[in-house]
This record gives sequence, structure tokens and C-alpha cells, in this order.
Amino acid sequence: MLTASPNTAAIAHETLRERLGQLNLPTWRCDSAGLLVSEPQIAGPAGLLLRSGRIAGLISRTIKGLAENQGTQLVEPEPGFYVIAVAERHRRQRSGWTVGVALSVEFLDSECFVQGCHGVHLDVIATRIALRPLALHDRAGAEVLAAMMGWAAADIASGMESQHTIAGFTRQLTDGFETIDLLYSLGRFMGDPTQPHEFINRALERLAQSMQFGWVGCWIGADPRVKYVRSERTFVAGTRPPAHADVTAAAELLCARLTSESKPLILNDAADLPLPRGVQCLAQPVARNARLMGVLMAGDKQGEDPQVSSYDIHLLETAGAFIAAFLENAILYGEQSAMFLGSLKALTSSLDAKDRYTFGHSERVAHLARELALAHGLPAATAERLHIAGLVHDVGKIGVPEAVLLKPGKLTEEEFGLIKRHPEIGHTILKDIPLMQDILPGVLHHHERYDGKGYPHRLAGEAIPLFGRILAIADTFDAMSSNRSYRPALAREQVLAELRRCAGTQLDPVLVPVFLSLDLSSFDRLMAFHREHLVDVTARAA
Ligand SMILES: [Fe+2]
Repeated sequence: MLTASPNTAAIAHETLRERLGQLNLPTWRCDSAGLLVSEPQIAGPAGLLLRSGRIAGLISRTIKGLAENQGTQLVEPEPGFYVIAVAERHRRQRSGWTVGVALSVEFLDSECFVQGCHGVHLDVIATRIALRPLALHDRAGAEVLAAMMGWAAADIASGMESQHTIAGFTRQLTDGFETIDLLYSLGRFMGDPTQPHEFINRALERLAQSMQFGWVGCWIGADPRVKYVRSERTFVAGTRPPAHADVTAAAELLCARLTSESKPLILNDAADLPLPRGVQCLAQPVARNARLMGVLMAGDKQGEDPQVSSYDIHLLETAGAFIAAFLENAILYGEQSAMFLGSLKALTSSLDAKDRYTFGHSERVAHLARELALAHGLPAATAERLHIAGLVHDVGKIGVPEAVLLKPGKLTEEEFGLIKRHPEIGHTILKDIPLMQDILPGVLHHHERYDGKGYPHRLAGEAIPLFGRILAIADTFDAMSSNRSYRPALAREQVLAELRRCAGTQLDPVLVPVFLSLDLSSFDRLMAFHREHLVDVTARAA
């Protein structure tokens, strides 16, 4: 008996047919209803007779008359014409028959043989001579052949079963390797909690490579704390991705149905979702510590098997757990950063607010330093550090007596000497804070001049740390753009002309042109906000 899938059944039949050919047995293949699917490929009159309607009908009728659920059967429908039939099976159902025929000399003298020859206009004697080499069997010989065919079929079925098992193991091994490789890749990408979009994009690209789906998508907007994460909320990867807006809308609808404890959802037809229909879609909650953060989806199942497999579910569950763990870290990091930044702003604002002329100065310098860094091509992370450097650059003024700091008239040399100490005081205040180490050069050197005539160390040119050179431009621009006790704010054209003039003497000649190319509208909005706020503060003080 041959047990196999439809295509492996054909392979098994071919293997058996080859073996029967070696025994000189003509071979047919029938479907489960007994209709002939293939015939023996024998040349000459012997082949013409065996493929004739009479013989085909004889075999077909014989097969139809066979008992159910039996392996190899031997029938003699005409004298000396032995039909040996081996059942092919697929999932316990009989799917067809491999049929071998053993002939004896008795058949060559039978009425059936003669009528068969006449039916296809063959010469009886010539055909008898042609078939003689095949007519070597008697009943006992046919029984031996039937037994051999049974063994051969069992042997082939066992071989196919082994191949099937090996293929299954190979598939399991491949799946296991893919899972390990995915875990390794995700683990490797998890390093930087400040860049969630990079991690999630890479995770989705890696998932799309491993899973046979047209697309994979992720939405991370379900947890309100995600506001602390500087990143987009919707991510999509794959060869046939839907629109971002559709993935977002689908994810929001799915999140309403999911909880942090939900098992993966298999959607057979995403009829109520704005996604491509008619194909299976898989939705996995992204959740951690009983909190639902979003949803991970895979849609448009591809490949031979259109059904979502346990392997697909396993892979998406694993990736969902990794994304959730990463996101939790990114949120905690974002919360801490926001708290840290809030504390810095509170500190520097209180300092700036002492003097109505410097109100908002640190925040504007921070803003300009970040913009200049980005325009200069520095990485976003460095630009964020420059923003912090801008916030704290004048923190050392805490150590300068208020009488000097707020003195409306001209300063004496001694008073100016006290003011000039603020970069070093700031450096001393911040130097023991671990998170501020990269900021320190900016604080210490923001009053150095490019020509070496600045303070505190009279550094020149490229010897001045980059943070110091960037802050110097932002600081100078804001100082000239603000009212002072001894002069009103300069007009924008004057300020820009002055910066241009100072390039190469006071300021870095490479960075000044970059600054001049900035769009200053967001700075102007910040300045307007601070002026408005200053009026509030002054009114309250009055
Ligand atoms: Fe300063």
C-alpha cells in the first residue's frame, strides 16, 4: 500500500512502475474510481494491443470491482490475464491504483486476445509473437509477483515516510534556527533606548524576512506614557505593505479588542478593518507588566500554506515580547530624561528670571545650539546634548554676586572679573554629575574666542571644543537679539551682519555661515513667548 500526499503519490507510483518495468510487467495507473490515468509505454503491436479500448476496459472494470481497503490484490478477469493492483492512499483515503499485468501463454490463445487484436486491426499471429516475451507467467508466478509488488509498495511507502519525516525534521530545524537568529538579531538591536524607531524598524524588517507574510506592522500608541518616547507610532515592513494610516486605524480597533493578557488573534477575514481582505492576518498584543502598549500584526499570508501556522504565532509572540521589553525601557529612559530636563529648565529659568534682560536666554541658546548642530550635520543625539549644554551654559552665574549680575551701569574691571568666573564656576557645579560629562567643555569654553582672546583659557581655533564654539554663536546671537539695560535689542539685519563680521575673530568661521542659513522663525516664536511671559512675571511682581 502506498501512503502519500497527491504529488508524492505520483512519485511513489513512478518508482513502483520502474521496478515493475524491470520485471517485464506492463503497468497502468488508475484513479480511485478506476479510470485510467496512464498506460504502458510499449512499442509495436504489443503496445497497441495493451493500450486498446478492450484491454483498457478490462482493467478499468476489474479495478472498479476490487474490494475496499485492501492492499495488493490479484485478479484473473480473463484466462491467463493476471491483474495485480496496489492501492495508493492519501490521508487514509484510497487515492488511486498502480496496476501491473502478468500474462501467460494461455491468454495469447484466448478469445479476449483475438478480439482485442481485431478491435485495433492487428495481425493476431504477429501480435502473439510480439507479446510472447511478456507471457512468461502462470498463476503461481503471478501470486509471487503480487507478493513482490506488495513488498515493493510497502518498501517505497516506508522510504517516502522516512523522507517525509526527514523533511519535517529539516523544517523544524530551519524554524528553530530562524527563531534563534531572530532572537539574536533583536537582542543585538536593543542597545540604545533613545532610538525606538530604529529598533522597531529593524525588528520588523527581520520579522518580514523570517515570516511568509506580505507585511508586518506595529503600532505603539496604546500606552499614554509613550509620549516620553521620541519616535513615530506606526511602523510597517514587507513586500506588500498597506498604508501607514490604515495600519494605525486597524491597530487602534484591534487594541480595543485586546488586553495585555490576550493570546494572538487570528483574523480569517479582516472585514471590519481597513486592511487587505481575504487573507489571514495575525495580531499580537505588545504588552508588559499588565499594560497594553500596542499591537504587532502580520498580514497577507504567503507561501504554499495559506493558513497561519504555530511557527508564525510563536515568532510574532517572541518579537512582541522583545518590542514590549524594549519599549518599557525606552519609556523609563524617556521619563527620566524628561524629569532631568525639567529640573535643568527649572534651575536655569530661575537663574534667568533674576534679570528681566536675560529672561528665557538659556532656553533660547539651547534651542539655537540644537538647530545649529543639526544644520552642521551632527547626529540627532549630539544635537540633544547641545540643547542641554545650552540650558546650563550660564549656570555658573549662581556664584556671581547679584549686585554685579544685575548692575545696570558699566562694570568696573573687578566686577567684570567676577562675571568672567562664571564658566569655571559652572564647570565646578556640574563636573561631578555623571550624565553631564560631555556637556562640561561647552560650559567651560563658551566664552573662548576663535582668535584666542576669550576666557577662561584663551584657547584658539579648533582647540576650542566644538560644544564651546557652537554655544558661543548661539549665545552671541541671543544676546544681541535681546534688550539689555544699556541698549535695546538690535535689528535682525544688524545682528546677522555682526555675526558675519565676527566670523574668524570672535566666532568659528565655518560654523557662522551654517548659522546664517538657519530658519529663525521658531527662535522668533520662542522669543515672543518669553516676552509675553516676562510681562506676566513683571505684572505679578508689581
Ligand atoms: Fe555665559
